[in-house]
Amino acid sequence: MISTVLDQRILTIAFDRADKKNAITNEMYLAAEAALLNASENDDVRVVLFKGEGGDFTSGNDLVDFIKNPPSGDMPPVLAFLLALARCPKPVVAAVNGLAVGIGTTMLAHCDFVVAADNARFKLPFVDLGVCPEGGSSLLFPNMMGHAQAAELLLLADIFGAEKANKAGLLNEVVAADDVLPLAEKVAAKLAKKAPNAIRKTKAMLKQSYLSELEARLAEEIFNFRALLDGPEAKEALTAFMEKRAPDFSKF
Ligand code: COA
Repeated sequence: MISTVLDQRILTIAFDRADKKNAITNEMYLAAEAALLNASENDDVRVVLFKGEGGDFTSGNDLVDFIKNPPSGDMPPVLAFLLALARCPKPVVAAVNGLAVGIGTTMLAHCDFVVAADNARFKLPFVDLGVCPEGGSSLLFPNMMGHAQAAELLLLADIFGAEKANKAGLLNEVVAADDVLPLAEKVAAKLAKKAPNAIRKTKAMLKQSYLSELEARLAEEIFNFRALLDGPEAKEALTAFMEKRAPDFSKF
């Protein structure tokens, strides 16, 4: 589930489903979207802080939901969440412990300050699931880290550590696991005390040159993702996950 706490003008949004490594369901995307929209409108919120409960950030989209409730319609929950995040006018801080898989990694490219544990693990498993990247990563990653690094992370889909994530430009600070949340909260508190309109105008201008392209790409990625999710490669990958075995793509 998603839990939220508003304290001292910081809205903390937590992925709160530790027994499933904080895998995100459609219901959770919609709750996180609602929290972001509230943060955007509500003058009492100056900063948003994302974290995960139970030692992990998130293991990404819930794979059971991929089978039972795949993205459908004009505005599937995952797209609604990503658009709300991309458009959030207030600074977004992320505290990353443990696993940050799939959207757990791609959403970091939308955050304004990311603190990660030195033992955090990142993974962009899209191709291994028979689908394509989401979260605007096909646009943002090459711009942030160059084609070679973006291609390595998105095509090989290997697990990688904080050092590589930091070098790729996804992180601001890498600290010991116990220090992640305190540092993220300290940064959020610092941002919350600053002149709010100056902060928002600055953030808006940082994103001005690419926000509309990003919005279009987010929708295009989900369109392609959905088509692939309907196909045989994704079926094999998801069946393999359920059967706790490696997928076999040799027949395609
Ligand atoms: N969707 C649904 N369930 C998930 C999940 C996900 N993304 N990630 C983890 N879980 C569930 C597992 O099925 C398991 O459930 P169970 O206890 O009922 O069997 C539980 O969470 C714990 O995960 P487990 O696999 O036992 O932990 P681990 O530490 O061995 O491995 C991962 C963690 C994240 C590496 C592994 O669970 C994994 O690969 N998950 C899928 C990640 C993924 O592909 N996400 C989609 C991104 S688009």
